[in-house]
Amino acid sequence: MPFILPDLPYSLTALEPHLSAETLRLHHGKHHAGYVNTVNAIVAQSNLKVESLEEIIIDAAGDAFFNAAAQAWNHTFYWSSMTPGGGGKPTGTLAQHIDDDFGGFDAFAEQFTTAAMGQFGSGWAWLVYDKGHLKVRRTPNAGTPLADNETPLLTIDVWEHAYYVDYRTDRRFYVETFLSSLVNWEFASRNLESVLAGKRPFAPAVQAVS
Ligand code: FE2
Repeated sequence: MPFILPDLPYSLTALEPHLSAETLRLHHGKHHAGYVNTVNAIVAQSNLKVESLEEIIIDAAGDAFFNAAAQAWNHTFYWSSMTPGGGGKPTGTLAQHIDDDFGGFDAFAEQFTTAAMGQFGSGWAWLVYDKGHLKVRRTPNAGTPLADNETPLLTIDVWEHAYYVDYRTDRRFYVETFLSSLVNWEFASRNLESVLAGKRPFAPAVQAVS
């Protein structure tokens, strides 16, 4: 039962000048596609019956399987964490929760930037909902808060392949641009509203197809 690579939620040029079409073409068409293909190869070799990437992530039948499934899921979540004309500050319930749990947007932005900058090597920085509160965390390599029963609201990919074409080694400028011009607060707000309502917050487009 193979998984499919979901289309980007926007065109290849939609995030320019902040992320180039070349970056999106490589990142989505090569890196993300590669993880989906690896998941499918492992499923085919093992004859496992799996219905979702989340199931693989939680059950984690081996590092290679976890890494490929988590990276397939993380990348789908990352694409939705950005939007053309994004950036700025959230509003409504999410803004209130950020004020309550971080002491204001600027304090959140500082924590998020520190997490993204502080991830040595490859990985991810996240805004998550956990036991009634928002928090920032980072995960190395393919790590995902799903594996710790936390609910992701937003993520930034800080693997070098996410920014090297456009920012070379300047991860800080990439992270700052993500917050100022790319972040999709509507997506994060929907995820928060869903989890507060007791619903599944994010249904990834990467689903098993028969
Ligand atoms: Fe990536």
